[in-house]
Amino acid sequence: MPFAQNYNDDLRLAHVMADSVDDQTMSRFRALDLKIETKPDFTPVTDADKAAEDAIRGQLSRARPRDAVLGEEFGSSGSGPRRWIIDPIDGTKNFIRGVPVWATLISLVDDGVPVVGVVSAPALGKRWWAATGTGAYMGRSLAAATRLRVSNVSRLSDASLSYSSLGGWKDRGNLEEFLDLTESVWRTRAYGDFWSYCMVAEGAVDIACEPELNLYDMAALVPIVTEAGGRFSSLEGEDGPFGGNALATNGTLHSEVLQRLNPDLDDLL
Ligand code: IPD
Ligand code: CA
Ligand code: CA
Ligand code: CA
Repeated sequence: MPFAQNYNDDLRLAHVMADSVDDQTMSRFRALDLKIETKPDFTPVTDADKAAEDAIRGQLSRARPRDAVLGEEFGSSGSGPRRWIIDPIDGTKNFIRGVPVWATLISLVDDGVPVVGVVSAPALGKRWWAATGTGAYMGRSLAAATRLRVSNVSRLSDASLSYSSLGGWKDRGNLEEFLDLTESVWRTRAYGDFWSYCMVAEGAVDIACEPELNLYDMAALVPIVTEAGGRFSSLEGEDGPFGGNALATNGTLHSEVLQRLNPDLDDLL
């Protein structure tokens, strides 16, 4: 990442794109004629997912023609150090069932580092965002912002943990360690999707973890958690490159959680 690079213009652009896509996706939320298809990986996608990514790509091609783009529904285009990452609707299954916990995730990755993240959840009336060096914020717009700060919970027995699904833990071979961890914390919730990670940034949740995530599921969440004072790593403790799985904590609890999830690995600090 270039030294002291300022990403304010990119952050503003991400907000403008989120504003226009929010109206579009809200108009399809709970629509009776929502078109749902099944992708080759047997997960659902709707016309709203595709239209949102298409709209963001269109705006990027006009505003940042030299930047590369990676989106969940339409893949990769372009090359170079600056790459926009789009998850047009995170929480498609919620969207389909009329549950308001879904969001559009827009991020900019510069030289492999997620430097801008905007998570817009219009059905919840919420938006979270951050850019490297400027802090993490929450609000309905840039003008109505509250600065975010992670919790100061320091004991697992006081901690709140949120995840999305149990399946991936079995595939990773450590369902037992994960279940032990859930029994050691104060409470466990499956808020799922982007929400778990944004709540870590808010200080409402102390640990969010997920064994199966793609780069587009998490790139926007990295600056939001880290600029709020938390730590974002893989489940094995690597601070990038991101993709595959994810652990976000308030920082204080990070090494203890890593040790609990990876009892066979010695050096996780
Ligand atoms: C999914 C959600 C879910 C996670 C899945 C993701 P999508 O994203 O983030 O919480 O468990 O692995 O694929 O398909 O709703 O954008
Ligand atoms: Ca999907
Ligand atoms: Ca997703
Ligand atoms: Ca998605």
